[in-house]
Amino acid sequence: CSMTPDVARRPLIVGNWKMHGSHTANAELLAGIVGARPYLADVAVCVPFPYLSETAVALAATDIRWGAQDCSAHEQGAYTGEVSAGMLHEFGCRYAIVGHSERRQYHHESDQLVADKAKAALARGVTPIVCVGETLAQREAGETESVVKRQLSHVIHTLAHCAGEMVVAYEPVWAIGTGRTATPEQAQAVHALLRAQLAAATPRAADMKILYGGSVKPDNAAQLFAQPDIDGGLVGGAALKSADFVAICRAAH
Ligand code: PGA
Repeated sequence: CSMTPDVARRPLIVGNWKMHGSHTANAELLAGIVGARPYLADVAVCVPFPYLSETAVALAATDIRWGAQDCSAHEQGAYTGEVSAGMLHEFGCRYAIVGHSERRQYHHESDQLVADKAKAALARGVTPIVCVGETLAQREAGETESVVKRQLSHVIHTLAHCAGEMVVAYEPVWAIGTGRTATPEQAQAVHALLRAQLAAATPRAADMKILYGGSVKPDNAAQLFAQPDIDGGLVGGAALKSADFVAICRAAH
């Protein structure tokens, strides 16, 4: 693990653009984010692959970071449609989201594949933002703890002594894009479990960032970020409007 050490527990806000954007919309959104600097939190945008180049140009002279929303578990080869961590590194990506619930669900990504992607990212100096989270049915069945622990344990074992280098994002599936946010207390409870699990695996657990994601908005961000084990947010819908995203970034300090 040879990552540049980050400021311990300084909040991190990451915009997950998902499959949204256009040259025009991106330029406007990025200009809005850049123009509202400085932030007390670290700020990043994870954009669709084709937009990495223009994002890198727009953010090059700033302290705003950028990344991708996925990466291949393979280094290179005959994997049509895949993008490697080495390629992301060439575009200056600081982060790659891996294991987002939309990829677990629509692309049938297994816990082990997600762990392998996280390892591939780290091997190329790209920090994986590893997403875990339960569905509504799992929460209602009382399985939240076992589900998120299982998802995270694959990554912990696969990354081994480098586990302390990842960023974790707790994203309850029922809160993503639904306008239904976990309460700060619900989120904190899971974050505390995840940090305890990390603590059993790495001496760096206390300094690791665990982000909350799922309908983070300007009006609920501050309460979520005030929780002791919530170190920032992974923001979908509200990351597409610069005023909303900037307000969320300002809620973290
Ligand atoms: P949302 O998405 O903020 O639109 O709920 C969050 C995410 O999926 O990362």
